[in-house]
Order: sequence, then structure tokens, then C-alpha cells
Amino acid sequence: MKLLILNGPNLNLLGIREPELYGSGDYQALVRRVQETCDEEGIEAVFFQSNHEGALVDRIQEAYFEGIDGIVINPAAYTHTSVALLDAVKAVRIPTVEVHISKVEEREDFRQISYIRAACIKTITGHGIEGYCEAVRFLKEYCAS
Ligand code: DQA
Repeated sequence: MKLLILNGPNLNLLGIREPELYGSGDYQALVRRVQETCDEEGIEAVFFQSNHEGALVDRIQEAYFEGIDGIVINPAAYTHTSVALLDAVKAVRIPTVEVHISKVEEREDFRQISYIRAACIKTITGHGIEGYCEAVRFLKEYCAS
């Protein structure tokens, strides 16, 4: 089983950006933690982070041709704006879990819209980096059933 772990804009600045919301661990710590979970579960993981919407769309499209079984995505700010990411996930029809480090439902009004949610099989918010690990385990079970 092969999963794509996708992260959107400003998540490369984890550890620096608003640590009271996103924690003190950096992006590499996130990658290490999720890789550890994937190793435990016998899953192959590929990671991609970009600050650019089109690069994220391209990576989702590539996932189709690469035979990716599931996607864990934190689209970051593009969650609240991007129809292009929604359409990309719909197009490839790969089971996708939406993850947010913070509890978006308790934040500003503009964060209450998620375009991508309509194409996702599950959403996990407010569990920090562990949310990605939960998403990995969820996708493993989902794909096995
Ligand atoms: C985020 C929440 C988004 O609203 C925000 O724009 C982010 C991170 C989260 O992980 O909590 O960049 O997706």
C-alpha cells in the first residue's frame, strides 16, 4: 500500500509559524512522525509540500498515474479557497482524508468553508501532527475493507 502525504502553503514553516496553534515541531518532525507510523503499519509513504496551488494539483494528478492508494492532505489555506484541489481529488478518485492540525471549526468564519471536504472520505481536525497518523491508519482500514 502506498500513500501520498500532501501539505499545502506555509506548512514548511511549522515550528516557526504560530506555535500556539500549530505546535513547536517543524515540517521534518512531521515527516519523521508520519513515516514512523507508516513503517509500523507496513505502508509506503511519499511526502510532498508546496506553497503553490498548481503544484499541489499536479501532484494529485501524478498520484493517479503512480498508483497511489490513498491521500492524506492538509491543503492549509487552500482548504478555504480552492475548487481546483477539490476537482483534482474528484478527478483521480483516490480515497482522501482531509487533516488540519488546528481545530478549524473553532476559528475564524472564513475557515469554516472547506471546498475539498466534499471529495474526502474523512476529516480530522485539532489533533496536531497525530491527526496525520490517524488518517494513515484510517486509510489502511478503509482500503482493506
Ligand atoms: C490548517 C488550518 C488552515 O485554516 C490554515 O490556513 C493552515 C493550517 C491547519 O492545519 O490547522 O495553514 O490547515
